[in-house]
Amino acid sequence: MALQYQAVRGMNDLLPTDIVLWQAVEAAVAEILRRYAYRELRFPLVEHTELFTRSIGEVTDIVEKEMYTFEDRGGKWLSLRPEGTASCVRAVLEGGLIQTGGAQRLWYAGPMFRREKPQKGRYRQFHQIGVESFGIATSDIDAELIQLSADIWTALGLTGTRLEINSLGTTESRANYRAVLLDYFQAQAERLDEDSQRRLHTNPMRILDSKNPAMAELIQAAPQIHDHLDAESAEHFAQLRERLTAADIEYSVNPRLVRGLDYYSRTVFEWKTDRLGAQDAICSGGRYDGLVEQLGGRATPAIGFALGMERVVALLDAEFCTAAQQAAAPQVYLAIVGAEAEAFAAQAAKQLRSALPQLRLQVNVGGGSFKAQMRRADRSGAEYALLCGGSEASAQQLSLKPLRSDAAQETLSLPDITARLATALTLAAN
Ligand code: HAM
Repeated sequence: MALQYQAVRGMNDLLPTDIVLWQAVEAAVAEILRRYAYRELRFPLVEHTELFTRSIGEVTDIVEKEMYTFEDRGGKWLSLRPEGTASCVRAVLEGGLIQTGGAQRLWYAGPMFRREKPQKGRYRQFHQIGVESFGIATSDIDAELIQLSADIWTALGLTGTRLEINSLGTTESRANYRAVLLDYFQAQAERLDEDSQRRLHTNPMRILDSKNPAMAELIQAAPQIHDHLDAESAEHFAQLRERLTAADIEYSVNPRLVRGLDYYSRTVFEWKTDRLGAQDAICSGGRYDGLVEQLGGRATPAIGFALGMERVVALLDAEFCTAAQQAAAPQVYLAIVGAEAEAFAAQAAKQLRSALPQLRLQVNVGGGSFKAQMRRADRSGAEYALLCGGSEASAQQLSLKPLRSDAAQETLSLPDITARLATALTLAAN
């Protein structure tokens, strides 16, 4: 039977077994960010449309055709945020975080919305963890962000990720390069596909990003941005490369990495994988030294990246997933057989929760035979069942039954059960 209501295409539910993996990833990333002393901020899902059109760029795919934009009842044009950097800059300016000078290292997490064609790894509501740093112009921060992202892959046990970097130069050197590129593509206009024809006058650098194999040869022979970089950007890029080499971070320079948002300057980078088909970027970012000023602040260098949660979660290996599911399952299942056992069982559960605050304890509810409750205990993933029947209740004891080993069942007082569980499950006692 077809359900009457289904989720909007490209927007997915996260069910409890998904959430366990998401929380494990979020916790691992948050821990790394804490170690690097980055601070979290949160901003709204909705902003004035103009914030995105001005920062991401009028002639980008996102602004031209992917934003969820609507007029609210007060006649204002609003959009669901398609990314976090513009909102982050707005929030940082509005919150006065960069007026006082000094660097800011920040992060955020949450859903973003783009009306792209949904396919594996590409959704209309997707989630990013974004990291942004403000006020630092030197390439050490570029290297720090790349190192931080590499640390995330290590913490998550992800293998097979590769780093591509490029430099787009300053706004001026990019404008020069754009003119050179425009001449080159204009001279070959008949070889351009429809998409590239459209981009020729609006955003010729995006032609370099084309995935159309028929365009590959033309793109390969196109003038390269590195031959048109200004001296300072070239020096910045050379320094970054040295730093990455010194830190043992492997990378390749991809001169065709131009990114789909207009605010970038100098360093851009992308972590890619071969395991997700066409949607191969799991984490992307770069410098946007002009954006803060463009949005009304004092000129402030800035750089950041965002990782795509759906893509990262899809890459987790079986070992990580099993460990995450295990870490979320109850450790102990309390079976209660007979109405006369209920009062003591409730008291025991309360005392266990207070004595062992980290203990994950699931209490049987809704009755059921001993056999049915043991089946539930097994399915819950718990390592132990605690049994409370009439005889246990009258002796003020519980039976501890290991569910994943052949060890014998023991009937013990509550303090002894507490001590036994604390040792077996390495839990701190209160
Ligand atoms: P972006 O490349 O548009 O950059 O997105 C960053 C990451 O979000 C991508 O590498 C990808 O993993 C994920 N992503 C993007 N679109 C989708 C989608 N439709 N479905 C699933 N995942 C997706 C930005 O958004 C910049 N704000 C990044 C940044 C931060 N640059 C500087 N600071």
